[in-house]
Amino acid sequence: MTSFAEVFGGEPDGVWYAPGRVNLIGEHTDYNDGFVLPFALAQRTTVAARRRLDSPQWTVHSTLTKETVEIDAASAAAPGALTGWSAYVAGVVWAMHEAGHRVAGAQLFIDSDVPLGAGLSSSHALECAVLGALTDLSDVDIPVPARPRLVQRSENGYVGAPTGILDQSASILCQAGNALFLDCRDLSTEQVPFDLDAAGLALLVIDTRAPHQHTDGEYAKRRSACEAAARILGVPALRDISNGHLDAALAALPDDESRRRVRHVVTENQRVLDTVSLLRAGQLRAIGPLLSASHASMRDDYEITVPPVDTAVAAALSAGAYGARMTGGGFGGCVLALTDAGAVDTVATAVRTAFATNGFTEPATFLAVPSQGAGRLA
Ligand code: GLA
Repeated sequence: MTSFAEVFGGEPDGVWYAPGRVNLIGEHTDYNDGFVLPFALAQRTTVAARRRLDSPQWTVHSTLTKETVEIDAASAAAPGALTGWSAYVAGVVWAMHEAGHRVAGAQLFIDSDVPLGAGLSSSHALECAVLGALTDLSDVDIPVPARPRLVQRSENGYVGAPTGILDQSASILCQAGNALFLDCRDLSTEQVPFDLDAAGLALLVIDTRAPHQHTDGEYAKRRSACEAAARILGVPALRDISNGHLDAALAALPDDESRRRVRHVVTENQRVLDTVSLLRAGQLRAIGPLLSASHASMRDDYEITVPPVDTAVAAALSAGAYGARMTGGGFGGCVLALTDAGAVDTVATAVRTAFATNGFTEPATFLAVPSQGAGRLA
């Protein structure tokens, strides 16, 4: 394992971090101005960084790929000029410039234990940690509540992924021991206590290893289908259709596919509100059926699951989990299973067995611990 000193010589000015996330519930609701309920993971990306006095250039080393990439002012000014992981770093520089900030050149040493490509927001952990480092090193004032929008801008405008505000908000705003109830329209937040230990529960994360990708067309297709449906229904966003008005809304839509997409978003928003009510009342076990209903809706109405994900959910539920669902953008990635703390091994074994029976790659599992959002370590 290399260090900042080995790559750049000397010591960094500081070390910043930002975590990966899971979304407990509220999937594909963020870009519909709806509700989400993520929490930050203990797995995080760290950036040890030193300001460069000589030039507006960013030299970035990743311990994961063992590459060192030079980002010059020209490529940081041209969306799409870079691809791969360095685009996420350049995108943050670009978005800071766009927001009117002067960004100091820097040497950045990046390390991470957030699983890559698993739908746990490894790319956002990178962007949010880099933003923390460059903000401090450049002596600019970017209030913490404004940071998720800036990171979203970098992803939408520079990287070219039409994603919402969920992941950046989770990585930056979450607090240890809590889930973050976020209204994606006005960006108001509430920290909702989520103490799994005290309730004798565990949230098992099953990384199905089915590759997950954001920049593919399916995410964008879902997003435009929602926007088109909102236009037909005459509302600014699907958030404005309440559960009580769902039937009338469905009757006004021209085809079955858009009816299913809308039904997912409207019922998912309601499931987030119901989950938050149960958590506020300390009824953690009772959220299980909402998690499972969310999965069924993603599978049948939003059509964003894949066989390994559905297999993991079914196996976890048959082995006694209170609820289980895919988390994140979809088409692979991770499944969450809410279980008694004493039942984790039984559930994990059941999923492994089901994967072996179906000939899927063996899944990885770990326990999710609601952790602290982005900050500075040193
Ligand atoms: C990805 C996107 C988020 C959100 C989720 C689905 O993680 O980055 O903005 O849309 O998918 O809930």
